Amino acid sequence: MDSFTAKLEKAQFAFNFDDLMLLPGFSETRSRDINMETRFSTNIRLRTPLVSSPMDTVTETRMAIAMAESGGIGVLHRNMTPEEQLRMVHEVKEHEPQGENATVDRDGRLAVAAALAPTDLERAGTLSKEADALLFDVAHFHTKSTLESAKKIIDSTDKDVVIGSMGTKEDVMHSVKTLGRVDGLRVGIGGGSICITTDVTKAGSPTPFAVAQASDALSELGARIPIIADGGIRTAGDIALVFALGADSAMLGFGLAGTDECPGEITAVNGRQYKGYRGMGSKGAREKRLVNDRYADTGGKKFDEGIEGLIPYKGSVAEVIEVLNSSVKASISYAGAGNIKDMAQKARIARISGRTVKAEIKR
Ligand code: XMP
Repeated sequence: MDSFTAKLEKAQFAFNFDDLMLLPGFSETRSRDINMETRFSTNIRLRTPLVSSPMDTVTETRMAIAMAESGGIGVLHRNMTPEEQLRMVHEVKEHEPQGENATVDRDGRLAVAAALAPTDLERAGTLSKEADALLFDVAHFHTKSTLESAKKIIDSTDKDVVIGSMGTKEDVMHSVKTLGRVDGLRVGIGGGSICITTDVTKAGSPTPFAVAQASDALSELGARIPIIADGGIRTAGDIALVFALGADSAMLGFGLAGTDECPGEITAVNGRQYKGYRGMGSKGAREKRLVNDRYADTGGKKFDEGIEGLIPYKGSVAEVIEVLNSSVKASISYAGAGNIKDMAQKARIARISGRTVKAEIKR
């Protein structure tokens, strides 16, 4: 065994969003001509590289419809009974696609993914009837028992399966090798805006670092599995940055929270409008889960891993996505790339020496 001093000296630098920048590169494509096509999972193609997070203040029927209409995809949360979740899948499928950008299944119906615990074989059976993809929704996927139960579900369904969350190269290599079939990887642990996992446990993997680790694992395996970057994404630049590290799409909680399509009412505080946003490991979400989902694996945890709060009301998802899309395109163009895959190959990244402080200008 190495000395403990060597252990410290060999410690990896787990880069986060604020540590990195995209360097400008020679651009041959105009910003508005940037191609945003990508994949969410093996069989689900997107025209907009955005995914709404399976959280009970973010993705239910309305959000899933809006995401698919915008060319992205929604992942329905699992803080409800399997029957309620299937009803929501059904409502998305019943909705007539309105635009040519919409994400659709083989029959031209809107595409939708649904979250489940890797132990929930019954829910997997129910959701497989209509959902296009199943997403294993656990904070730490790479455990012996999770791999064992996930394998059972994967063998029982012909739908795309997305595994996660994962944070290191070893997590990805071992999970993909053990499971055989995997259609998507959700990466990033503890970086979410509402997340206190790393504060409480000191464990986690910042999203940019996790994406780079997953990309390297896939190269080494010779596997082409779409990577979904998840947690801590605040700006269009953060999205472009994860593409530069090999991600195929970006999952948003905070970025979409507070829109019309999120569950929950608008609240007024001192004349300003807000909507609720909470972590799925927060007290409120955990209490609801215990009532609703007898299969929920609380892992015997007695502490909260997320917070609850209010965020300013943002209007419609379509508007938020339109603005994000055009700014991600600008960011890709600055970096000298013409599409998302190009970002992984061409975009250059620089380390920065701390937060840039600009002169304060009153607006
Ligand atoms: P953003 O930054 O987009 O992050 O709001 C959303 C992601 O955060 C994760 N998530 C949690 N992580 N405790 C955690 O440690 C929680 O209570 C919690 N709730 C959500 C999840 O990966 C989500 O997509």
